[in-house]
Amino acid sequence: MNNIILIGFMGVGKGSVAREVIKNSNYMAIDTDDLIESMENKKIKEIFTDNGEQYFRGLEKDLSAWLELNVKNTLISTGGGFYKQKNLKKIGTVVLLDAPFDRIIKRIKNHPNAIRKLKKRPLLQDLEEAKKLYDLRRPEYLALADIVIDVTKKTIEECSRELLKKVKKI
Ligand code: S3P
Repeated sequence: MNNIILIGFMGVGKGSVAREVIKNSNYMAIDTDDLIESMENKKIKEIFTDNGEQYFRGLEKDLSAWLELNVKNTLISTGGGFYKQKNLKKIGTVVLLDAPFDRIIKRIKNHPNAIRKLKKRPLLQDLEEAKKLYDLRRPEYLALADIVIDVTKKTIEECSRELLKKVKKI
């Protein structure tokens, strides 16, 4: 299938790295949250408020089955909870973008669109709860990853270069 599936916690930079990778490779890129939003014609935040998290997780599951069957040679960036899909490893090479929680929050807060970035993520509204979620997920992310990229103190360009170099070796 030759897909790259980009996982990692909310705000770690999956979208930014994906955009940089496609500038420097022949990959096409898609994003699971974007696909879900267009399928539902609603923002993720609205899906959570109108239909609840379980409904959203169901959409992620349907999408994972579709990706496995239909998508090839593509860089797939995912929402932070998408890694739970049982067929993840069948979709592609799993690349984790990894950073400490504090760094991730700092990165979001320093962004010119910080308020929008925080507001659009229902699971980042309460930072104490988000830290608990991070602690729970991080070992699971690491266990699933074929490739880990520590994004701390690296530019988006450096992360993209490292990703492409490591993927080539697999
Ligand atoms: C989620 C992460 C979000 C989005 C949804 C749930 C999660 O995507 O899918 O709000 O469970 O971590 P990002 O990782 O792009 O913020």
